[in-house]
Amino acid sequence: MPNQPKQDARERRIQVAKSIRKRLVQHIANGRTTDMAERPMLNSRHVYTDPAIAQNEKDILFLQSPIVACFSTDIAAAGDCFVLDDLNVSILITRDSDLRLSAFLNRCSHRGTRLVPPQPGGHSINLSRILCPFHAWCYNLQGNLVAVPGHEGFQDEDHHPGLLNRRHLTPVSVVEHLGLVWIQVKGALTSESIQGYLGEFAPELEQLELQNLSRVHSHDFVANTNWKYALDTYCEGYHFGMLHRDSIGDAYYSNVSVYEGFLPHWRISFAAKQLEQLQHQAEPLWPQPELNAIHFVFPNTLLVVGNLEQGEMCVRVFRLFPGDNPGTMRCDIAVFAPGNVVNDPQRVAREFAYNDVDSPITQEDYRVAMEGYKNLQNAPDDFELVYGMNEPALQAFHQAIGSRLGHIKIRST
Ligand code: FES
Ligand SMILES: [Fe+2]
Repeated sequence: MPNQPKQDARERRIQVAKSIRKRLVQHIANGRTTDMAERPMLNSRHVYTDPAIAQNEKDILFLQSPIVACFSTDIAAAGDCFVLDDLNVSILITRDSDLRLSAFLNRCSHRGTRLVPPQPGGHSINLSRILCPFHAWCYNLQGNLVAVPGHEGFQDEDHHPGLLNRRHLTPVSVVEHLGLVWIQVKGALTSESIQGYLGEFAPELEQLELQNLSRVHSHDFVANTNWKYALDTYCEGYHFGMLHRDSIGDAYYSNVSVYEGFLPHWRISFAAKQLEQLQHQAEPLWPQPELNAIHFVFPNTLLVVGNLEQGEMCVRVFRLFPGDNPGTMRCDIAVFAPGNVVNDPQRVAREFAYNDVDSPITQEDYRVAMEGYKNLQNAPDDFELVYGMNEPALQAFHQAIGSRLGHIKIRST
């Protein structure tokens, strides 16, 4: 539920932003150095193209791990229901009249029909009950079957005693934590287990006060590439000066970044060119910074934290999901901002932030990801991609996948 902003969270964000900025300015002063991994890393092209690996990723990374389904504010009111249709199975999340969250397989227990379709723009739908569109079986928001038209057709106490009493929806583990709604399709989830999963990254997410941000807009798209190839483009700023030379490459240095590992999660920040002027000033004279960084929640959620106006934070959320085969994927894009819009400039700033996520930057990244994937498909069996020491977040992402899937051979040079 939305809370009053905590001053200490904002203070902590400023302290983190100061420490990142100091490191970025140091890199600029050193002649544009960047944070480095220990050594370059090689990775087989099969990691991107092999259908067996893609299937393992779905099973292990997406069904057996905590996944961010939505923000708490997406489903804040009694009766709000949210559909996550991006995993192998469709998930329905509900908030009942006691404001308790439940999640279920979005599958009717009669003949398996999907109960609630995903809503346009990733929004929730408000329901008092769940009515199957096929034969109108009816469930309450706790997943209990409460009405069956023509129920006498299912009553056979001799052979199937209490048949309808057992046809409730299949529950899925769901927990609300740090302003996010997490689900895990296989295995149990608790606030403690998510806290353990996030480890040292938990305070970094907590300080974002995501529970105070509401969805401004969202959309999704499909792309013909592997989900990891697309995600790789968010992991480094090494390509800014070339691929994005007419957009972000104008405002940010290529290949100057600060990387912080909270493995398997991480945060990365890039060097705005305007930081250059600070290297000749004493730090106490520097203006107060705002946090500007990509927070990556393994395995697929990127929270790009920036600002609308001084002090007003916004988060652009990119969630990448594998598609039906290794060469297809879906990306959900959303912008979240403080809900208390009181004037037109604030409204315009939110619209601008949304338009920005569908900018040439995203289009350029996905074009490269699609073209690159095609080449990998046709590359020789022994072709390996190389991730530089200057791409530590990229290395961390693939090392985390490799260690979870076990069978992937990743070589350091
Ligand atoms: S499949 Fe849902 S009521 Fe028949
Ligand atoms: Fe990019």
